[in-house]
Amino acid sequence: MKKNPARNVHLKNKVSLLLEKINSSIEIDQRLYKEDIEGSIAHCTMLIKSKIITSKDGSMIIKGLKKIKTEIKKGQIGLDTKLEDIHINIESLLFKKIGNVAGKLHTARSRNDQVVTDLKLWIRSKINNFENELKNFQKILINIAKRNTNTIMPGYTHMQIAQAVSLAHHIMAYVEMIGRDRERLNNCLKRMNENPLGACALAGTSFNINRKYTSKLLRFNKPTANSIDSVSDRDFVIEFIFCLSLLGMHLSRLSEEIILWSSQHFEFVQLPDELFTGSSVLPQKKNPDGAELIRAKTAITISNLSALLSLLKNLPLSYYKDMQEDKSLVFNSYDTLLESIIISNELIKNLKPNKERMLFLSNEGYTTATDFADYLVQNNNVSFREGYKFSAKLVNYAEKNKKKLNQLDFNEVKKIKNDVDKNVMK
Ligand code: ARG
Repeated sequence: MKKNPARNVHLKNKVSLLLEKINSSIEIDQRLYKEDIEGSIAHCTMLIKSKIITSKDGSMIIKGLKKIKTEIKKGQIGLDTKLEDIHINIESLLFKKIGNVAGKLHTARSRNDQVVTDLKLWIRSKINNFENELKNFQKILINIAKRNTNTIMPGYTHMQIAQAVSLAHHIMAYVEMIGRDRERLNNCLKRMNENPLGACALAGTSFNINRKYTSKLLRFNKPTANSIDSVSDRDFVIEFIFCLSLLGMHLSRLSEEIILWSSQHFEFVQLPDELFTGSSVLPQKKNPDGAELIRAKTAITISNLSALLSLLKNLPLSYYKDMQEDKSLVFNSYDTLLESIIISNELIKNLKPNKERMLFLSNEGYTTATDFADYLVQNNNVSFREGYKFSAKLVNYAEKNKKKLNQLDFNEVKKIKNDVDKNVMK
C-alpha cells in the first residue's frame, strides 16, 4: 500500500477497510486531475515568486506535475483507490517522481481550498462548453424556424386548440428559453469566478502568499474575500446544477412535444427511424425513446439539485466531508445534460413537419374566432367585449350548421353582424 502523505502520525497508519471504502472518492474525483494539477502549478509558481520555496525546488515540482499530467492522460499511470482522493493521489505520485521535495507543494495550502479551486476550474470550463453547445442548438432551432414561417399549426392552451400559429413561432419560443439558459450560465460564471486558493483549511495562512498572483495565473477575477466562506461555499455548484436543471426542464418540454407530435393522434411531425426503437412484441411500433429518456433524465438532474441543497442545509461553516458528495452530483448533471442536448439536436435537425395535417387541425376548433372579434373592434367601432359576443354568436352558428369558420360564406357572417365588410373573409 502506498503511503498517504496526508495521514497524521498520531493516527495509526491503517484505516479500517470500511472507512477506506466509504471515504474514498478517487473513482469519482479523478475527473479533476487536470484542474488539480493546474491549480498546483499556479500555487507553486506563486510560492516561488513569493520566495516561500526556492525556484530550484519549485521547478522540480512543476516539472514533476506536468509529467504526471501527461502520464495520466496517456493512461500510463493509474490512480490508487486506497489514496482517498485526487489530491492525495497526485501528491503521492509527485513524491514517487521527485522525492521529498514534493512535500513542499502543500505549503500554505489545504485540501479544503484546493478542492474548491479544482471544482471552480472544472465548472468554469464546462460552462464554456455549454455556451458553445447551446449556441449551436439555437442555430439548429432557428434553421427549422426559417424553413417554416409559413407552416400553419394549431396553437394550444389547456391542450385545446386555441389559435393558429406558425411552426416557426412555436420553435422560436425554445430559442428564447435556451437564450435565457445561456444567460443564466454566464451569470453563474461571473459570480463564481473568484479565487479561493489561500483560504487554506479555513483561516488563511501565516505565509506571506500572493493571492492576486494566483488569481491572475488561474484567470480568476480576484481572490475571494473571506477565507471561511471560501471553503464553505458550494453555492456555485448549486447554481450550476440549477442552471442545468432548468435547461433540462426546457429540453424535457421539447421532448414531450416531440413525443406528442409524432404520435398517431397528432401526426404533426415525422422523425427518421434511427431515432426510434421498435417493440419486442408489437411489430408496428415506433417508440420515441430518445425523447422519453431526455424527459426521464431531467427528473434525475432535478433530484441532484435537491440532493445538494439538502446536503448543505445543515452544515455549519466551514468544511465537512459531506461536501465530498457534491462531485458525483455535479458530474452526473453535466453528463446527463450534455447527452440530452446532443439528442435534442438530432431530434430537431431531423424533424419533418406534416404541413397538411397541421393546417387541417388549425382549422378545427374555430381558431380564428378571436381574429374575428379583433376585426370588428378595428373596423366596426365596437368594444372588444362586444366583438367577443358577436364572435361567440358566429361560432355557435357555425357549430349548429356543422361548419368550420373558414367554411362560412359572407352572407352567413353578415347575419351575425350586418355592417361588416367583405374584407373580413380574409
Ligand atoms: N476529497 C475531499 C472533497 O472532495 C477533499 C477535501 C478534503 N478535506 C479534508 N479536510 N478532509 O471534498
